[in-house]
Amino acid sequence: MSTPAETSRTDEPVRDGAVLEVAGLVVRYGARTAVDEVGFRIERGEILGLLGPNGAGKTTTLSVIEGLRRPESGSVTVDGIDALRHPIDARARLGVQLQEFGFQPELSLEQLLRLYSGLYGVSLSRPQAREALDGVGLEQEAGKRLKGLSGGQAQRFSLLIATLHDPLLLLLDEPTSGLDPQSRRSLWQRIEASRGRGGSILLTTHSMEEAQAVCDRIVLIDHGKIVTTGSPAELIAAHREDPRVQAIAHGEPTLEDVFIALTGSDLRD
Ligand SMILES: Nc1ncnc2c1ncn2[C@@H]1O[C@H](COP(=O)(O)OP(=O)(O)O)[C@@H](O)[C@H]1O
Ligand SMILES: [Mg+2]
Repeated sequence: MSTPAETSRTDEPVRDGAVLEVAGLVVRYGARTAVDEVGFRIERGEILGLLGPNGAGKTTTLSVIEGLRRPESGSVTVDGIDALRHPIDARARLGVQLQEFGFQPELSLEQLLRLYSGLYGVSLSRPQAREALDGVGLEQEAGKRLKGLSGGQAQRFSLLIATLHDPLLLLLDEPTSGLDPQSRRSLWQRIEASRGRGGSILLTTHSMEEAQAVCDRIVLIDHGKIVTTGSPAELIAAHREDPRVQAIAHGEPTLEDVFIALTGSDLRD
């Protein structure tokens, strides 16, 4: 009989802890508190949606997890690793979707793919690089530069790069903003497929349709604070009797009704 203590002494990494644990996170820009005591967990294979209006603190939260910004206080643990103390080890477990300006503009897609696969330690031969591009519908674009692609093609390419090393946790900041409905659905399918392979995803969005379509669980934040947490169905069930939800729902309350009721109907920019 092996006790849990004995099991954890083997060479096998412990595979039952949270993929990500954020606790008591506080981030300030000067006098402004952008993230105020935010905490949540992501379990293996889970897709968590960080939702909130513009300026809620979503991107700032991701930038701390990615090691791009140091918080005032709080902790970030990736696969049991203290990401604030060991950012490089933590970062190796993350897939981060770069924006277009993050890539070398003079290289073709195939060259970028081979460059990044080398950086991630999963070198691809030319035929393998072609095959990978083929897999995301970019076989015709292998020789093109990123700026010659449509929005949907660029998103597919940056997602391919972010997942080259089969990351434990994929971080996506508004992955479908600016995409047409076809490209959006195709991205959702890719996200679903990644979950099917046991990957975990943290995505931000302000699309309720997206949250309902792909997220197992939602953390709703506003003004840097967590407003509520739960699965889309739980959030609707928990807030359906709220007079603010009742006041705006037409019939059955939707996730969007809950979102607007809890974050107010003021416009944000
Ligand atoms: N580099 C920055 N300098 C100063 N304030 C910032 C900076 N980045 C974001 N903010 C402010 O922090 C708050 C949270 O921003 P952000 O995390 O980008 O929100 P979201 O991604 O939810 O739209 C906003 O009030 C925003 O204006
Ligand atoms: Mg943002």
